[in-house]
Amino acid sequence: MSSIEVAGATVRYGDVLALDDVSLTVESGRVTGLIGMNGSGKSTLFKTILGLVHPASGTVTIDGGDPASARRRGRVGYVPQSEDVDWAFPVSVRDVVMMGRYGRQGFLRRARPADRDAVAEALERVELTDLADRQIGQLSGGQRKRAFVARGIAQGAGILLLDEPFAGVDKRSEATIVRLLRELAAAGSTVLVSTHDLHALPSLADEAVLLLRRVLFHGSVDAALEPANLSRAFGLDPSGDQGGPS
Ligand SMILES: Nc1ncnc2c1ncn2[C@@H]1O[C@H](COP(=O)(O)OP(=O)(O)OP(=O)(O)O)[C@@H](O)[C@H]1O
Ligand SMILES: [Mg+2]
Repeated sequence: MSSIEVAGATVRYGDVLALDDVSLTVESGRVTGLIGMNGSGKSTLFKTILGLVHPASGTVTIDGGDPASARRRGRVGYVPQSEDVDWAFPVSVRDVVMMGRYGRQGFLRRARPADRDAVAEALERVELTDLADRQIGQLSGGQRKRAFVARGIAQGAGILLLDEPFAGVDKRSEATIVRLLRELAAAGSTVLVSTHDLHALPSLADEAVLLLRRVLFHGSVDAALEPANLSRAFGLDPSGDQGGPS
């Protein structure tokens, strides 16, 4: 069973304090929702868990090891925020999903029948089989998200990180992704997903984390959605945190 342990992580970009002493355990077999205003550090937390951004202090442990080696071994699947993807990159939807299999293909990266089967099955599960040969940039926003979810599924990663997979996605695509994430968690995966869609949270997540540079709250979805907690997370409480990140 995979789990993510973040212990006292502080991340700075130059003068900007993006994460302040963040400690968090993300359990396997559950979907954990990550909630926070723009600039609260959600994407930074994902990149820290992936080993793409290095904390100034604190540690991240995945399966008892360091993040970069977990990522290299294909243990961590990542659906980046749309803004972080180069959509002009000349690859098809099928190629994007096949990238999830690279960790298993050895030095020559030759796709084997098992890889092709896994890719076909993942495309089927996100309902993109018909669009498999399109260039990734020629999909709609919701279809692009589903392609990256398929990459995570094909990878068979025990840990899946999704950065705002519902942004610009219609209700049907959202329902498809929610159902898949629930299935993956039920099969034992660790799923951490950031979202601004608070209405979807109860059907999506087993627990929720409220982030504002620091972890303000980690517990049940119901408690996270209480007005007192939400107003702190969104910097609306004058007696609490003095505003959000600028
Ligand atoms: N590469 C970078 N260089 C400098 N500052 C950065 C960089 N990336 C993020 N930041 C800053 O770090 C803080 C956290 O940003 P981050 O992208 O993690 O927030 P977020 O919660 O994902 O926001 P959003 O909801 O808008 O996606 C912000 O103040 C942001 O301006
Ligand atoms: Mg972000």
